[in-house]
Amino acid sequence: MRIIKLVALISGGGTNLQSIIDHINEGNLDAKIDLVISDREQAYGLVRARDAGIAGLVIRPGAYASKVEYEHALAKAVANYDPDLVILAGWMRILGRKFVQQFQGRLVNIHPSLLPNHKGLNTHQRVIDAGDKTHGATVHFVTAQLDDGPTIIQAQVTVDANDDAATLQQKVLHEEHKIYPKAIQWIAEGKVNFAHLIKTPAP
Ligand code: GRF
Repeated sequence: MRIIKLVALISGGGTNLQSIIDHINEGNLDAKIDLVISDREQAYGLVRARDAGIAGLVIRPGAYASKVEYEHALAKAVANYDPDLVILAGWMRILGRKFVQQFQGRLVNIHPSLLPNHKGLNTHQRVIDAGDKTHGATVHFVTAQLDDGPTIIQAQVTVDANDDAATLQQKVLHEEHKIYPKAIQWIAEGKVNFAHLIKTPAP
């Protein structure tokens, strides 16, 4: 069994991070998180990392003169740990082409919609406004196009008449907590990889 090394990038509460930590601790995920990086000092995910004994690092964009310099520092910090996989877990910044290319094939994201529907922010409200009957979440490899790389796994939820953005968020998050660890485990087992997915696009 191979244990893959992860670096996680977060910006907020870190419930997906927590789910991954829990799956590892329960012996259901052949991975180890070596480092959690946040772009915000107040991100509660940093507390989760500390409680789990994982190194945490804050790299604030405001401390750099440009996005290019910021991402250079970010890439350096990530590369330092030589991770098998970089997981974006509620990371709220769009990463530039250079960063994405450096880690392409080793960079995954979770997005709260059934991609390619509803790329970008405020997905839950947009699902309601569009009158969609289904919603969900997607784990995908990251490419330079926003919310666009090859899909690894999706989970679907039903949109009920009495749902609002808050209830949908809860429903979708619940599914995210299941599919993110599952996708990482597939990658750890070699069942899924970027090169294979880009050669076999969905029909
Ligand atoms: C999740 O809905 C994730 O899909 C999105 O941001 C949210 C982060 O939640 N990118 P958490 O920080 O993992 O609790």
